[in-house]
Amino acid sequence: MHDVLIIGSGAAGLSLALSLPQDYRILVLSKSDIHEGSTLYAQGGISAVLGRHDSIEAHISDTLNAGAGLCDPEAVRFTVENGAAAVNWLLESGVNFTRETGDGLAPLHLTREGGHSHRRIAHAADATGREIETTLVEQARARSNITLLENHIAIDLITTRKLGQNQGHGSNRCVGAYILDRNRNHILTLRARFTILATGGASKAYLYTSNPDGASGDGIAMAWRAGCRVANMEFMQFHPTCLYHPHAKSSLITEAVRGEGGHLLLPDGERFMPRFDPRAELAPRDIVARAIDHEMKRLGADCLYLDISHKPRDFILSHFPNVYATCLEFGYDMTKEPIPVVPAAHYTCGGVMTNPQAQTDVDALYCIGETAYTGLHGANRMASNSLLECIVYGKAAAEDIIRRRDEAAPVISIPAWDESRVTDSDEHVVITHNWDEIRRFMWDYVGIVRTTKRLERAHHRIELLLREIDDYYSNFRVSSDLVELRNLSLVAWLIIRSALARKESRGLHYTLDYPEPRPELAKPTIIDPLSRYLPY
Ligand code: FAD
Ligand code: SIN
Repeated sequence: MHDVLIIGSGAAGLSLALSLPQDYRILVLSKSDIHEGSTLYAQGGISAVLGRHDSIEAHISDTLNAGAGLCDPEAVRFTVENGAAAVNWLLESGVNFTRETGDGLAPLHLTREGGHSHRRIAHAADATGREIETTLVEQARARSNITLLENHIAIDLITTRKLGQNQGHGSNRCVGAYILDRNRNHILTLRARFTILATGGASKAYLYTSNPDGASGDGIAMAWRAGCRVANMEFMQFHPTCLYHPHAKSSLITEAVRGEGGHLLLPDGERFMPRFDPRAELAPRDIVARAIDHEMKRLGADCLYLDISHKPRDFILSHFPNVYATCLEFGYDMTKEPIPVVPAAHYTCGGVMTNPQAQTDVDALYCIGETAYTGLHGANRMASNSLLECIVYGKAAAEDIIRRRDEAAPVISIPAWDESRVTDSDEHVVITHNWDEIRRFMWDYVGIVRTTKRLERAHHRIELLLREIDDYYSNFRVSSDLVELRNLSLVAWLIIRSALARKESRGLHYTLDYPEPRPELAKPTIIDPLSRYLPY
């Protein structure tokens, strides 16, 4: 039995692991390489009030504005007030943020991104996530009480309700998880006093995404099946600028390029963003992505362009060494010419509902990072607020787990995983076909601009696929591809149901049938697994 089972080794999971005392037995799981996940690819940085002219109130106000009336003001204040401490903790852990000058004691260099009224993004050049992830993994490896287990994918949570062993007052408690060891193709039953979902987001539900392959919404799906409410799934964020090239899979061009003066251009060279918003290229992401989508559709263009070539070459190379190298690999020299860009699915603003201590609706189950819905992001996340949320709520969960130190673990017997009624799959093509189909119709029907008709089409298809995948899951031996497909299909269903339920346009959810926000609808969309059928 572990004290704490953390499913996910990104910024959220590792912050939590490293914030617990050294006498806790902690197991951290990663479904592939220990470093792999969105954290590794984060570019722009982490936001916090660090500049002399900045203020907590300004960061709060920018976050609320970007969130389009749907942020939980308490979650925003809590996160922002803990921002500087989060960055300081990363510095103390050894994260090497870029400084104003080469002197290691110089103030941090702060960059700017969309929606922020001040420079407040601490960064490690344009590879902030890599610096954070590798440092935190190194720290975790140095702790004898933390075990890191890669290539282990959680299939499902084990709860007292599923076992038919409810605790007092009908309470449903999480007691561990079933895990597939991908190396040995063997299923483990892991028990823990506390279980944490830190599995990242679900942007893989879309054909084009900035996210790595594992972003299949596993934590959201597992939590929902365990009995947790899920909120705001219609608010999937599309990043305005991913490199457009047939072989450039998931290549983000950081928003900091626009923060440092980059312009968005039409194919004829016209700068168009000032026509859409007075903040031009630095408007919040929903506005910029929608403007790009609008112009691409209007012109029938395959992509638009991002140009920072008017800045000195040395400036570009020192601020964006990795973006520069990636673009060059695909034949574009950003110091000399505009880069072709398109929007792509990037961030899951909704997720598993949590309270300020990161607790979910299921006892002893916590949820942190992109998997969680804390109320911070509302209808649209402001750039670089995500890494911040990972650290702040990772620490909040740790504090709550420490507070519950003396609670006795329930005595429960857990059956081993039952494979007596399944056989090896005879048709893997079913998995790949359904995977591709979901991602294609999500892109076409549930994307940046929606209509009720398109959403209903998507709904019809996902209901059929859910039945087919369920059937497949009941009959065949589980594999990691099947686990991910099952989760992705459920998350796609949650996104579509939530989008159908929101009869207005707000933040990232834009529908031609209800093009304006409606003040009476300024509340989260909550889906409760106990009353699955949210009316729409
Ligand atoms: P992740 O870092 O995604 O980690 C998820 C972990 O869960 C992985 O270890 C994975 O293996 C594991 N996992 C998942 N499912 C299972 C399972 N079933 N069983 C076992 N393990 C599982 N945000 C910012 O604030 N600033 C930025 O500059 C920024 N840039 C970004 C750039 C890119 C290209 C991307 C994709 C995102 C960016 N974001 C940025 C968003 C931010 O990086 C993520 O929201 C954040 O890193 C998520 O961290 P996490 O710990 O929640 O999850
Ligand atoms: C970026 O660098 O543009 C990504 C920042 C973010 O998603 O917060």
